Formats: sequence, structure tokens, C-alpha cells
Amino acid sequence: MSEKFISPVRSLKGELHLPGDKSISHRAAILGLLAEGQTRVYHFLTADDCLNTVKACQQLGAKVEIKGEELNISGCGWVGLRPPKDVIDCGNSGTGVRLLAGVLAGQAFESVITGDEQVQRRPMRRIIDPLKAMGAEITSEPGGLCPLRIRGGNLSSLNYLSPVASAQVKSCLLLAGLYARGRTLVTEPSSSRDHTERLMRYFGIPIRTEGLTVSVEGGVLPQGREITVPADISSAAFFLVAAALLPGSDLRLFNVGMNRTRTGVLEVLRVMEADIAEDNPRTQAGEPVADLAVKYRKRIQGAQIKGAKLIPRLIDELPILAVAAAAAEGETLIAEADELRVKETDRISVLVQELKNIGVAIEERPDGMLIRGGKILGGKADSHGDHRLAMSLAVAGLVSEKGVTLNNPECVRTSYPEFWDHLAAVTL
Ligand code: S3P
Repeated sequence: MSEKFISPVRSLKGELHLPGDKSISHRAAILGLLAEGQTRVYHFLTADDCLNTVKACQQLGAKVEIKGEELNISGCGWVGLRPPKDVIDCGNSGTGVRLLAGVLAGQAFESVITGDEQVQRRPMRRIIDPLKAMGAEITSEPGGLCPLRIRGGNLSSLNYLSPVASAQVKSCLLLAGLYARGRTLVTEPSSSRDHTERLMRYFGIPIRTEGLTVSVEGGVLPQGREITVPADISSAAFFLVAAALLPGSDLRLFNVGMNRTRTGVLEVLRVMEADIAEDNPRTQAGEPVADLAVKYRKRIQGAQIKGAKLIPRLIDELPILAVAAAAAEGETLIAEADELRVKETDRISVLVQELKNIGVAIEERPDGMLIRGGKILGGKADSHGDHRLAMSLAVAGLVSEKGVTLNNPECVRTSYPEFWDHLAAVTL
């Protein structure tokens, strides 16, 4: 494990083509596995998380070719999956485990799925219980933890009221629903990201959305497609915040995903008075995209970040929004964000601890944090092997007084292997 010094910089200038969206890349590979025929994915995210999902698809029988950012996958045609010879290891990816578990629940063979130590601490009961209710046999480690041993097949449909707004739970059940007799319905307390629904429709599966309920009829075979994955707004967020904080910044980011279930970060940054413009709006494989231009305008202001409708739309961006708040004028409250505690790390406690270490006035709350804006002093910080914490602390270093020495910076390869190179290319 290494250390990296992130020195304070003056501004961010230039243009970036950011890597593909992580959520959509996982789903494209999985639907490619289940589809009849060939699926070609352009701008696929070739980061560890999605590459582990590709490996799982190969273990289940898909033929895969990756050339740069292009993924070609010959599907198994829904019922043609074969039993994996080894344990399916999703590495750091909770999305990989939970979505693939939905697929495995539909198979009449036994398989074992797991991930790294962080994944092995993440709650899986949220998918185990409803999948069992559909008829899958699943055993886990005590407390509903990975590894999961799954024997599926012969599923019945389910009308499930999910206690959490989680796209991973919803997607898991929609994928299992493809294998169930009848129509599977999932109702969420508020809307989570809807990439699975959009991509299933694009692959020819009729999905119904009525208010907070999404449903799918079992037995429909997805058709292989060509898709281009938009750039990941969660990766864009680090650059948007850095440019909004550093005087003189002027940055353009191309082809960024603008799905409304993901754009909470833009709304909050605008409330904080950041200057972000959207150009050239268009639709790509059923997903809205646009180019973003961010310019420094004035010191950004603290904000209230809470509410069941907003939090799921920016859950992965809360660490970088906490950094924005630390450098803003005034107080910021992040509340109703308990789900942050069950991400790659407990992102409430780890973020509070690490931001304190670099001189931020921050208080932990059970469901979030209170941040008093001001200057970020800098010092030593640890990513805890959490990719989004590493990138958030890097931005804290750029805007700090004396820089940040970051432990374990290489974990960015989970979602954004080019992060350090991209940062170097636009910092002055
Ligand atoms: C994701 C859903 C979210 C998000 C994660 C990716 C997805 O998790 O935090 O990074 O691709 O479905 P939850 O479903 O647990 O909210």
C-alpha cells in the first residue's frame, strides 16, 4: 500500500472525457449475458468492479471480448447459463453480488457468490429474504453475509414492498423476476436509480413503472443490442466540486449521464451557488446525457442535504459533497442518509474521522453529519480502501492549505482507474 501527496492547486482548466457509468456497465454486461445474440457495449467501464462482473458472466457461459473500452458479449440466451466451476468473486462490488444473485436465483444449479472483505461485511438479507420468498434456496454466513450459496430455478413471482430505496435490491428482484412465473412487482419507499428498467426496455423486455412500483413479466428473452454507456456522473462529481471551489477554474466534461435518478448532486451544487451549465442534451441507449461546463463564480455556500426523495439521488456523491461543504461558507447538514453506513465502508463514521484529521469542523450524527464550512487545513488521511473516499480526500487536498498525504490511493481502480492521470491533466 502506498501513499500519495496531493498538493494544493490554483485552479482546474481544460476538458475531460470521463469513464463509463459503473451502474450501467454492470447492467449492460449482465443483460448481455442473458440476451440472445451479440451485445456490443461502447465506453464500457473497465474498472475492477465491472471487470469482476464480466468475469462472472464468463464463468456462467458468456463469450466475452474486451478491446479498450469496447465490450463484446455473446449471450447465453437466458436459459442457457451453465453452472460456474468456481466461486463467483465480485471483488469490491456490492452491485455485482446483488444483481448477479438475482440471476443465480433463476438457475436450477447451485453456485456460490462472494466478494472482498468490505463486501463480506455488507448486508445481504435485503436480497436473501425476497429471493427466498420467490422460492430460491439460499444459505449465507451468520447475519446474512457473503458468501451466499444459491440454488434457484422454479421461481414464483413476488409483490415486494422494499423497506429501502435501493436500486441493487430492485434490480436483483427484476432479474430474478425474468425467471419467475407471472409478474414480479417491486415497490420502493422512494425512487432509486432506474438504469435496470431503462436497459431492460432497451433490450426488448417490457417493464412497467407505475409511481413507485416497477414490474416485469417472467419468461421474456432479452435481445442483444449495441449500447454506448454515458460518462459516470458519480465520477464527474469530483471534478465539478473541485472546479466549483477553486478560483479561476473552467472545465468541460463530455457526454455525462443526466438520468434524473442520479442528478441530485447537480441540484445541491446549484443550491450551494456553483455555476454548472448543461449543453447539448441528447438520449443514448435510453439514457439522457449532456456536456457539462463548470466555472468558478464565487465562494460556495452551505446547504441542507436531506429528504427521502433527494438522498437516493445523490447517495454516492455525499462524500464529495461533504468536502464541498467543508470548504463552503456556512453550515451544511447531511441527514436521513443512514444508508451511507452500509456502503463500501461506513461512510458516515470514516468520512467524519478523516475530514477531522485534515482540520475540518465536522460532527457525526446517527443519520449523517454536520459540517461547519471554512478552510481545509490538510495533513494525513486514509482512504480505508474506499474508492469514493480516496477521490473525495484528493479533492480536499487540492483545495487545502498545506496538502493531503493520502494512504492507499490505488483503490480508485474500483471505479475510476484513470483518476490520478485525469486530475494531473486538468490541475494548474
Ligand atoms: C447502485 C446502487 C446504489 C449505489 C451503488 C450502485 C447500483 O446502491 O450506492 O454505488 O448500481 O444499483 P443501493 O442500491 O444499495 O442504494
